[in-house]
Amino acid sequence: MTFLQFAIKTAQKAGKILLKESTKNLQIREKAADDFVTNADLESEKLIIKAIKKTYPAHGIFAEESHTANMPNKEYIWLIDPLDGTTNYAHQLPLYCVSMGLLQIKKAEKSKNFNYLSGEIIAGVVFAPRLNELFYAEKGKGAYLNGKKIHVSNVRELSRAMTVTGFPPKNKEINMPYFTNMVRHSGVVRRFGAAALDLCYCARGAIDGFWELELKPWDIAAGSLIVIEAGGTVTDLNDQTLDLFGQEILATNTHIHREMMKKLASK
Ligand code: IPD
Ligand code: CA
Ligand code: CA
Repeated sequence: MTFLQFAIKTAQKAGKILLKESTKNLQIREKAADDFVTNADLESEKLIIKAIKKTYPAHGIFAEESHTANMPNKEYIWLIDPLDGTTNYAHQLPLYCVSMGLLQIKKAEKSKNFNYLSGEIIAGVVFAPRLNELFYAEKGKGAYLNGKKIHVSNVRELSRAMTVTGFPPKNKEINMPYFTNMVRHSGVVRRFGAAALDLCYCARGAIDGFWELELKPWDIAAGSLIVIEAGGTVTDLNDQTLDLFGQEILATNTHIHREMMKKLASK
């Protein structure tokens, strides 16, 4: 079994849990203002962690609901969002998913004050169980939706583009100037509420560009690989290589990347 096959199997099992839990009485807890966790998040994460520990005991895990302050110092690290789009889930909207990305560390340096880790995502799976949409990619091997190869869109002008964003629960204001600019300059702007799926919709060509601030590594690990493997471009908002801990992301169909970055910055 490859890493990808394992991730697909595990994300599908976690997706089943999300569907099952959604028929029960949801226990919703507010972690911070507008930032929710349900029993479904926790059950899904438990299943995924158990599966990784059993199959790959030497691998590290960095998962949303149980992570430590630093990333584990391992060659392989799984970045897990057991339920991306919790608010949608709690409202019974189908736009939610499980996200699993596998990071391979190329260089790990420890210093007194920080752990510096550099590596690349080599496999990513995003599974939306209510929509039965399974997105996946392996580095260098293309991106797929339910077994069919996907590709980013061909839209070449921002004024014709559908762009998507999200607002960090703890700091919504930070995105307002960018949002205003995109409302002005792109064709239309949408907000779907699940960053991992936003990235996959960019990969499949349904939307043309996605930006967001204050995201976490588990939100973007799998989806960013899926965009790149579908022919898209992923950077931060300043054209620098995506930093999983850098919190900001711009993912596009490549054609509108420069224009969108420029217009975002013109606030
Ligand atoms: C959230 C979603 C949302 C984004 C938030 C994330 P969660 O993740 O991805 O689209 O705007 O910033 O926190 O809490 O549903 O896993
Ligand atoms: Ca998330
Ligand atoms: Ca989550």
